[in-house]
Amino acid sequence: MIMLFRFKSVRHKFLAAVATTSIVTLLVTITAMGIYDWNDYKTRWVNDLSNQAMLIGRATIPALQFDDPQLATKNLKLLEVRPRVHAAALYDARGVIYAYYKGERYPVKLDPAFKQDIGLKIENSEITVSRRIHQHGILVGYMVITAEYGLYQRLFSYMSILLLVGIFAFVISLLIARWLQHQVTQPVENVARLAKNVVEQGDYSLRAQKTTDDEVGYLVSAINTLLTVIERGNKAQERSLKALAQENEARKTTELQLRQARDELELRVQERTEELRKAQSALLQSQKLEAVGQLTGGVAHDFNNILQVIGSNLEILSMKFSDITPAHSRIDGAMAAVDKGAKLASQLLAFARRQPLQPVSTNLNNLTKNMDDLLRRALGESIEVEVIQGGGLWNVMVDRNQVENVILNLSINARDAMNNSGHLTIETSNVMLDDLYAEDNPEVTAGQYVMLAISDTGCGMPPEVIERAFEPFFTTKGEGKGTGLGLSMTYGLVKQSGGHIKIYSEIDNGTTVKIYFPRIHLAEEDMPIRQIADIQGGNESILVVEDDMAVQKAVKDILLALGYQVECASDAQAALNIIEQGRTFDLLFTDVVMPGPLKSSEMAKIAKMKLPDLAILFTSGYTQNAIVHGGKLDAGVELINKPYRYADLARKIRMVIEKSDKKSNPTPIAQMSKSPESTLTMPGKILVVEDNLEAQSTLCELLSMLGYEAIGASSAEAALELLTEVNILLTDVNLPGMSGIELAIQCHAQDPSKPIIISSGMDTASKLPFAVQLLPKPFSMAILSDILYKATQQNAGP
Ligand SMILES: Nc1ncnc2c1ncn2[C@@H]1O[C@H](COP(=O)(O)OP(=O)(O)OP(=O)(O)O)[C@@H](O)[C@H]1O
Ligand SMILES: [Mg+2]
Repeated sequence: MIMLFRFKSVRHKFLAAVATTSIVTLLVTITAMGIYDWNDYKTRWVNDLSNQAMLIGRATIPALQFDDPQLATKNLKLLEVRPRVHAAALYDARGVIYAYYKGERYPVKLDPAFKQDIGLKIENSEITVSRRIHQHGILVGYMVITAEYGLYQRLFSYMSILLLVGIFAFVISLLIARWLQHQVTQPVENVARLAKNVVEQGDYSLRAQKTTDDEVGYLVSAINTLLTVIERGNKAQERSLKALAQENEARKTTELQLRQARDELELRVQERTEELRKAQSALLQSQKLEAVGQLTGGVAHDFNNILQVIGSNLEILSMKFSDITPAHSRIDGAMAAVDKGAKLASQLLAFARRQPLQPVSTNLNNLTKNMDDLLRRALGESIEVEVIQGGGLWNVMVDRNQVENVILNLSINARDAMNNSGHLTIETSNVMLDDLYAEDNPEVTAGQYVMLAISDTGCGMPPEVIERAFEPFFTTKGEGKGTGLGLSMTYGLVKQSGGHIKIYSEIDNGTTVKIYFPRIHLAEEDMPIRQIADIQGGNESILVVEDDMAVQKAVKDILLALGYQVECASDAQAALNIIEQGRTFDLLFTDVVMPGPLKSSEMAKIAKMKLPDLAILFTSGYTQNAIVHGGKLDAGVELINKPYRYADLARKIRMVIEKSDKKSNPTPIAQMSKSPESTLTMPGKILVVEDNLEAQSTLCELLSMLGYEAIGASSAEAALELLTEVNILLTDVNLPGMSGIELAIQCHAQDPSKPIIISSGMDTASKLPFAVQLLPKPFSMAILSDILYKATQQNAGP
C-alpha cells in the first residue's frame, strides 16, 4: 500500500489521507451510532413489552384468582390495539397455559426461559418478553408477549440515513480537503515543478513564487536563495570556464603564432642564408670573371702588341721577298697564325670589356625586328623562332653590331642545345630591377632596364655549367665545335655596356639568357641599322675550304641558312678531290692561307680550269692590298677580310656569284688599288709615339712604305716637343709617364686640326670629347693606310 502511494504526488496523498480519514471517521461514527441505537431499541422494546405484560398480567390476576379464562382472554384481547404484537399467553403459577391471544403456537408448558422475573427471547424477527405476575408477593402466573421485533428494518433505515449523511459529509470533506490541499500542496507543487525544471533544463535562473508565509513559503525562499547562490556560482564558474577557454584559445593561438613565427623565421633564415649564399656565389663569380677579365685583357693587350710587331714585320718581309716562293709559304703560315691570334685577342678583349664600341641610342625592338629574317635562316626550318616585342620599349645605349652578334651567338647556342629542332623565343621588355634583385646580384644597381631574353627549349645547363659558362674557353662542345668564347664575349659586351646578364636553365626543359641594358632617356639615334634584312641568299652550290673547323662550321651554318648548298673541305687538296669527283659548284670560298703542300691559290686555279664558271672568293686575315701586292693572288680576285661579319659575307658571296653570272670582267688590281679605301698615299709627316722600340721602328718602316715620313718618340713627354714638326700624331695609349690619351688632348688643344690616331687593342679613347681615329691592334698595312686616309679626310673637313 505504502509502495502504491510512494510515487503518487503530494496532492494525491493529501486527498487520499483526507478521504481515508473521513471514511474511517464516518464508519466508526456510523457503527457506534448503530450499536447504540440497536441497544436502545432493544431496551425500549423489552421495557415496553415487559410493562405491557405486567399491566395485562395484573389485569388478569382476578381472572386467575377466580379462574375466569374468558376474562383473562378478554383482557388479553386488549392487545389488539398493538398491531405489532403477534401473540400473547397467560400461564398460571404452575406454568400451564391459561389463556392466550393469537397464541396457539405457545407450548402448553411455560419455556423455562420465561420463568424469570423478566424473560427475554429474540428469535428470527420476533421478540418475546415474559413477566412474573405476583399478588401480594405470591406468584400467580406468567404473562408472555411475542411481538414483531423489526430490528433489521429499523437498522436498515437508520443505516441508510447514516450512509446518506456519511456520503454527504464525505463529499463536503473532500471539497474542503481539495481546497485545503490547494492551499497546502500548491506551493509545494510549485517548488517541485521548479526543481524539476531546474534539473531538466539546467536553468538556475528559474524562481518559485512565494505565496505563503508558512514553512512552504520559507522553503520557497530558501530554495530561491539556494538557486540564486547556485546561479551566481554557475555564472562565476561559467565566466571562469569561459575565461579559461578564452585563455586556452589565446594560449593555443599564441602557440600557433609562435610556431608559425618560428617556422617563418626558420624559413626566412634559410631563405636569407640561401640568398646570401647565392649573392656570395654571384659576387664570387663576378669577381672571378672580373679577375679573369683583367688578366685576359692584360694578356690580350700585350699579345696584340706582340702580334702587331710580328704581323708588321711579316708584311714588310712579304713585300721584300715577294719573288722568293719558299719564303712566301713560310710568311703565309706565320701570317695565318698572326691572324688567328688577332681574332683570339679581339675575342678576349671583348670578354675583358675592352673592345672598342660604338654605342648609339638604340631601340632593341627595331634591332630585333631587323634580325628576324637572318635568325630564321640561320637557325634552319626546324627551329621555330618567335619574337615577342615589349610595348613602349625604352631606348638603350649599345653598339648595335655587337648586340646583333650577341643575339646571333646566343641563338646559335640555343640551336645547338635544341639539337636543331625546338622553339626559340626572343623577347624584349621594360623591367625594373628592384633592391631585392640587386641584393641577390651584388653587381647590379637597382633601376630601369630593358630586358632582352633569348629562350630555348633545349637540353638545359646543369648548375656547374651555368657557373662556368661565362669563363673564356669554357665549352662542353666537342673539339673544333666550340671555342667557349661566345658567352664570354657576350658577358664582356653586356658589362661594358653597363648591363647585366643572367642565365636561367633547367635540365631537359631549356635555357633563358636574360640581358638587361640600362634605360637611357635619349631618342633613338637615326643611324641606319645594318640592312641585314636586305641580305639575299641563293640556292647556288658553294665549296667552302677552311682549315679552322670552328670557322668552317660557322660559315657552313650561315651559308646553309642563306639557302645555299654547301660542301666543306679542310685543305686545298681535299677541296680538289671533291671537285675531281665530278661535283660542280658555283662558288669556291677559300681561305688564302692553307696547311699542306697545295696552296689555295693554286687549288683555285686548277678548280677554275675544271669548272670555268666557278666564281672564287678568298678570305684572309691579310688585306687585299697585302695579298695582291705580295703576289699571292691574281689581280681581280675577290677577297673578304677576316674577321668578317656574317652579313658582309652574305653580301659579298651574292655579289661575287652575280658578278660571275654576268661574266663581268674582273676588276684589275690597278683600279682596285685606287679605290679610296686602298689608295692611301697622302704624303705627310707622322709622329709615332710608342715605347716599345721594336714596334716603333716597325711601324715607322710600314709608314715609310706607305709613303709617309715617320719619326718616333718613346714617351708622351718627348712627343710633345716634336708635335709642331709633324702634321699627324699616331700614339699608343699605354706609355711610361703621361698617357697617349693625355698627349692626344694636349695635341688637340695645340692644334685642333691635326689628325690624331690612337693605337690600341682596347676601347680606351672612345670617351674623348673630340674626334680621333682608332687603330685597332694588331693592324695590317691596309688597315693602317685606311685609318690614315680617314684621319686626314676627317680633319680636312667637308
Ligand atoms: N642555350 C644553351 N643551352 C645549353 N647549354 C648552353 C647554352 N648556351 C651555352 N651553353 C653551354 O655553355 C657553354 C659555353 O657557351 P659559349 O657560347 O661560351 O661557348 P660555345 O658555344 O661552346 O662555343 P662558341 O660559342 O665559342 O662557338 C657551351 O659549351 C654549352 O655547354
Ligand atoms: Mg656559343
